[in-house]
Amino acid sequence: MARSWLGLLALLSPVAFATRNYKPIAYNLGSSPNIEGLISYTGESITLNSTHPVLTLDYGAEVGGFPYLQTESPDEAVQIELKYSEPFGGLQLPYGDGPFLFVNGLANSFRTETFNITKAGKTEALLLQGGLRWQSITLLGQSSLTINHIGLRPSVIIKETYSLPGSFSTSNASYQGVWDLGARAVQAACYDAGSQRSTWQITEDGAFIPGQYPAVSARGDGFSNYTLEFQTKITTGGTGWRVAGGANGGYGAYFVLTSNGPALQSSNITALPQNSLIAGYGYSIVNQTILSSAPPRTYDVSGISIEDNTWLTVRTTINSTGYAVSVNGKEVAFVTSAPFQSYTNTAWGPDGLTGGTFGFGPFMNHAAYFKNVTVRADNGTLIYSNQMTSTDILQEYAIASNSYAVCLDGAKRDRAIWIGDFAHTARIIASSSGRYDYIKGMIDFEFDWQYPPGPAHDLVPIQAYMGAGKEYREVYYPSEFGETDYQFFFLLTLGDYFALTNDTETIKKYWDGTKLLVDTVVDRYLDPVSGLMASADASWFTAQGTQNATAPTALFVLAMNQLVNVAKVIGDTDTATSWGQLSSSASNAINGLLWNEDIGAYSLSLSQPNDTAILATAFTIRAGIASPDRVATSISRLIDVFLNIGYKDNSATGNSANTQLSPNTQGFLFESLFLAHMKYNASVESVLPAIKVLGETFWPKMVTQNEYYTGASWEYLYADGSPGIGIFTSLAHPWGGAATYIFSNYILGVRTEWDEGVGQYVWVFDPAWDVVRGLGLEWAKGNVPLSGGGYIQAEWNLSKSLTTAPSMAARVVENDDVQVQIREM
Ligand SMILES: *[C@@H]1O[C@H](CO)[C@@H](O)[C@H](O)[C@H]1NC(C)=O
Ligand SMILES: *[C@@H]1O[C@H](CO)[C@@H](O)[C@H](O)[C@H]1NC(C)=O
Ligand SMILES: *[C@@H]1O[C@H](CO)[C@@H](O)[C@H](O)[C@H]1NC(C)=O
Ligand SMILES: *[C@@H]1O[C@H](CO)[C@@H](O)[C@H](O)[C@H]1NC(C)=O
Ligand SMILES: *[C@@H]1O[C@H](CO)[C@@H](O)[C@H](O)[C@H]1NC(C)=O
Ligand SMILES: *[C@@H]1O[C@H](CO)[C@@H](O)[C@H](O)[C@H]1NC(C)=O
Ligand SMILES: *[C@@H]1O[C@H](CO)[C@@H](O)[C@H](O)[C@H]1NC(C)=O
Ligand SMILES: *[C@@H]1O[C@H](CO)[C@@H](O)[C@H](O)[C@H]1NC(C)=O
Ligand SMILES: *[C@@H]1O[C@H](CO)[C@@H](O)[C@H](O)[C@H]1NC(C)=O
Ligand SMILES: *[C@@H]1O[C@H](CO)[C@@H](O)[C@H](O)[C@H]1NC(C)=O
Ligand SMILES: *[C@@H]1O[C@H](CO)[C@@H](O)[C@H](O)[C@H]1NC(C)=O
Ligand SMILES: *[C@@H]1O[C@H](CO)[C@@H](O)[C@H](O)[C@H]1NC(C)=O
Repeated sequence: MARSWLGLLALLSPVAFATRNYKPIAYNLGSSPNIEGLISYTGESITLNSTHPVLTLDYGAEVGGFPYLQTESPDEAVQIELKYSEPFGGLQLPYGDGPFLFVNGLANSFRTETFNITKAGKTEALLLQGGLRWQSITLLGQSSLTINHIGLRPSVIIKETYSLPGSFSTSNASYQGVWDLGARAVQAACYDAGSQRSTWQITEDGAFIPGQYPAVSARGDGFSNYTLEFQTKITTGGTGWRVAGGANGGYGAYFVLTSNGPALQSSNITALPQNSLIAGYGYSIVNQTILSSAPPRTYDVSGISIEDNTWLTVRTTINSTGYAVSVNGKEVAFVTSAPFQSYTNTAWGPDGLTGGTFGFGPFMNHAAYFKNVTVRADNGTLIYSNQMTSTDILQEYAIASNSYAVCLDGAKRDRAIWIGDFAHTARIIASSSGRYDYIKGMIDFEFDWQYPPGPAHDLVPIQAYMGAGKEYREVYYPSEFGETDYQFFFLLTLGDYFALTNDTETIKKYWDGTKLLVDTVVDRYLDPVSGLMASADASWFTAQGTQNATAPTALFVLAMNQLVNVAKVIGDTDTATSWGQLSSSASNAINGLLWNEDIGAYSLSLSQPNDTAILATAFTIRAGIASPDRVATSISRLIDVFLNIGYKDNSATGNSANTQLSPNTQGFLFESLFLAHMKYNASVESVLPAIKVLGETFWPKMVTQNEYYTGASWEYLYADGSPGIGIFTSLAHPWGGAATYIFSNYILGVRTEWDEGVGQYVWVFDPAWDVVRGLGLEWAKGNVPLSGGGYIQAEWNLSKSLTTAPSMAARVVENDDVQVQIREM
């Protein structure tokens, strides 16, 4: 009752909803973070004291925004440490479930922060938290603090899934919980243009930069052996900068200079002594799960007193043996570079230790101003100068507010525009939030950035940062192009988008760009000998890096097949013919070279013929490459990659506690099982076991474990069902939410299909009857939002008798352009 009333309210007053803060739903007050003893939170005042110093807050599901609290006047200044986490376990770790040290995602990179509360009133964090379910507040010291209000000011609106234009329910409530995962994830990770503000504040006194992952200049990419000089004023704790960093995120040398000002009680004086220089190399000065950095070295700088609120001139000179750091003209340390040598990483950073760009970003709980930056080449020539007082610099440092409506890979991290992830995201949006404007925003963004003549000509960005500037895009090639097949995923999304919307206007606008992209990927990556996708400068995400592989080639075929239909609709028959030929020759190459009769499946690749891969199976089915016999056989061989709760990417992957199971790749497999049965004659008995594994075992792991639950889909899982990169795992990752559209498309049964007869994509209402019977489902109902407004409302009810036809009803609501074909069983 209360639920539907709330849902109605949300629909009636979107503005009121938009400005509503996120509030905890439950809390615990005690001596440590506590998940067992939560009581419901109704806005009462809570007093933390020395025997009850830890407040645990549960927001119930994923939220994102600026944490704030309102307090009564403390007796004396009191410090509190706030922690944020998606899984509960993050509250028990020193850095929460962070820090996130891969890119600056226009959010706080740190998951803990300390406030010094001196008076009554509201305190709000300077930087947003991208995504979390849990928060803790720990009173430091012996006094007490009364909190009257607490919550997050939203940086993104995440509605309850029942209030979305898309919906799905069925007789088994477990399916509803799984459907909700994608519906929540796409809300948490998609942002309106301009909604994620810069993490730097530009003032007359230069850039004010609260502690965060350093952002690097796009203009320093070719620099080497230089002297970086700038003025900095520490407002809290310390200042930080980089030299010799990579274009893609800045991996390289990193320096933190700490002040002798008052230390926060939370600061770790062992790791970060006061009045010192801490020199690190890599992502940062601390390790995080898969992101490891060199052990930091600490230099006593006591020859100079580093004061808060005082301008300092800091100079760093790179030479062949290290980095000379001086403060106010006095050399305080020479940091030898030899110990960093083994941490150089050409995938993320520069080749050597003397070249690469520079950037700025203090460490956790620190903050500083930066102004008057100069860079001089070793011959003394001034090669860069910047007063840091104009907002024009924000795109140069890739930390401008997002200029497009975009979807990121995840809410908490990486917070980058990974276009390959978006293949699932776009389809989830179309089944749930109905925010087709985000799909269009992504298409607009990709084509706006499509590369001009040069080494990356006609490619689109695959890993862009929200805050980066188009004028600097060439700097990001090739370092941000590590997954070649993400170009194909973008082509797939274009076809998916058209199939869902009939939006010929957008397609025509970018048709020339689409053709350039197809031409360039064929020219660069299609191997003329094998006829498969292979090239020395390509790396294939969908084939775990192997060349001449089934999955990327089949993904290309799939993308071409859809774009052939698009070409036909817009009347470009020459292109339809030539892409049709590309599709059939690549299909023939796969069938001729990569089917392994002995194992009864498509091979991972030419070099690993005896290994199978789930994407090889999935994409050869969806692309129509596999004959019905091969479809059936390859599905029967899925047992070769089964591990405990789901399917491994390929059979070459071992079985261990660290084996990751990907909901992204299994999402493609999941859909292909329905298609195998509905289009390619695979018997229901042959597909049902795998459909049950995915729908009833694998995906529910993201729903049923309270300590990990965020209400959103995850990035990876381990075979024991826990998050698959440990604490680092994104637990609001749309790429893991395919079940949402699969349930809407095949269980509810509303989807679009290409109708060759009329030459159009048409909406059909056509549930996978044998499958839903096999799953024991008795009824389903739901809405599927339409791009032009309105939605398709559908429901079915299966009679208990196998001989009686089920009842089915569907209608188009508030949209005159769309019809839906009801296919009786
Ligand atoms: C701290 O707060 C708890 C819970 O409100 C209360 O039971 C306890 O007596 C307080 N302790 C002190 C030292 O004030
Ligand atoms: C906290 O604020 C008080 C009052 O302004 C100040 O005296 C104290 O130095 C501050 N502590 C820190 C660590 O900044
Ligand atoms: C403080 O830093 C040291 C050195 O990095 C580390 O060993 C220690 O665990 C840290 N202490 C806390 C409480 O995080
Ligand atoms: C990070 O881990 C690596 C590898 O275990 C280790 O060599 C290095 O010292 C660690 N770095 C930091 C910053 O703790
Ligand atoms: C690099 O600079 C340091 C400190 O200024 C100096 O001692 C060292 O000799 C220099 N190395 C070379 C190779 O010039
Ligand atoms: C920078 O210095 C290194 C080491 O001395 C040298 O190998 C390199 O060629 C220099 N780079 C440039 C562009 O001069
Ligand atoms: C900027 O710094 C340079 C030294 O690097 C100094 O000569 C110059 O006066 C400074 N300019 C301003 C406007 O502060
Ligand atoms: C000094 O170095 C810069 C940057 O490497 C270069 O562009 C410039 O030509 C050099 N000037 C002289 C006089 O060698
Ligand atoms: C792909 O296979 C073809 C045919 O075997 C071979 O000539 C080519 O070198 C392979 N490409 C790569 C990048 O391995
Ligand atoms: C694949 O298996 C076949 C049959 O067992 C064997 O002859 C062949 O050497 C294997 N190929 C590779 C690359 O392991
Ligand atoms: C509902 O689905 C769950 C797993 O998702 C399954 O364990 C359960 O047996 C199903 N319930 C019924 C009544 O079929
Ligand atoms: C596309 O347009 C045709 C013709 O107007 C219409 O019948 C069909 O329902 C539309 N399909 C989609 C996916 O909107």
